[in-house]
Amino acid sequence: TQDFRIGVAGLGTVGAAVVGMIARRAEALAAATGRRIAVTAVSSRDRNRDRGLDLSGIAWFDDPTALARSAEVDCVVELIGGAEGPAKATVEAAIAAGKAVVTANKALLAHHGGALAQAAEARGVALAYEASAAGGIPVIKALREGLPGNEVSRVYGILNGTCNYILTRMEREGLTFEACLKDAQALGYAEADPTFDVEGFDTAHKLAILTSLAFGTAIDAEGVAVEGISGVQPLDLTMAEELGYRIKLLGVAQRAEGGIEQRVHPTMVPKSSAIAQVMGVTNAVTIDADAVGELTLIGPGAGGQATASAVVADIADLAAGILRPTLGRPAAALAPAARVEMARHEGGYYVR
Ligand code: HSE
Repeated sequence: TQDFRIGVAGLGTVGAAVVGMIARRAEALAAATGRRIAVTAVSSRDRNRDRGLDLSGIAWFDDPTALARSAEVDCVVELIGGAEGPAKATVEAAIAAGKAVVTANKALLAHHGGALAQAAEARGVALAYEASAAGGIPVIKALREGLPGNEVSRVYGILNGTCNYILTRMEREGLTFEACLKDAQALGYAEADPTFDVEGFDTAHKLAILTSLAFGTAIDAEGVAVEGISGVQPLDLTMAEELGYRIKLLGVAQRAEGGIEQRVHPTMVPKSSAIAQVMGVTNAVTIDADAVGELTLIGPGAGGQATASAVVADIADLAAGILRPTLGRPAAALAPAARVEMARHEGGYYVR
């Protein structure tokens, strides 16, 4: 059989980890998928940065859309980020060129996922996005493939590692919000623009993706009511603690009267609850489904290796032919979800 040839667009924290992982796990991946998986092309803005990788024999592209069209590539892995610009152009070029696409780009999917999925189906190529929500947790696979006998009533959880890391360190060490955010950036957890993390938009993007899979509806990122953690004060954490609660940034999607309710906001959770034990960069996703009951998946939500783990899972499924364009519901058949408008609360935190 022929090699499965990977083009990696974007060599930041995640891109570099993916290239390293494919090399390190070459034998195991070949055994698991029946094909040799090889990175044949990469692209990045910065050619000279030392990433500790051996890129000899790998074609270098300055333009990711040229990588996406390259005849040397079967599968384009988009790790550039951002809802518009080069990331979107790269995914569109890859689909148009008939290549399988793997992306970790939740902002892109939240805003253009429906159109991209339809384009991919029309072209007969797969669009895979395990790394787009909850980092290393295989929650896309769980929702897409694990629960066909169930009706899901609710999906909720901690979906942003940066925010949970910040809240954890503020609470445990009494540090300021700003100091914790700086550390999250240094560790490679935060978005290029950390406003997306701390104002709740990143959680909203991921929630919109999970909602679509859980309820079989079109992605509706604009329908998410969002409030972030930038207003959370150390005193709020202390007060919550004294009352027997912790404050977590939750994303919640549930069936409600009139449609699917989607919301993101700081929430007081009882200290004895499972979700209150989730600390640091860890994410947690709970799925309530009628047959199986309540499922909770907990694991690393950000960081190079954990996110690469999810990216490489998609690559392996594509190489093995498990992830086909038609897997899951066709995008064209997804009904828009009726929105439940949320009343904004003034001050205070939701209690769960
Ligand atoms: N900035 C994101 C987070 C990265 O902190 O969760 C993973 O999507």
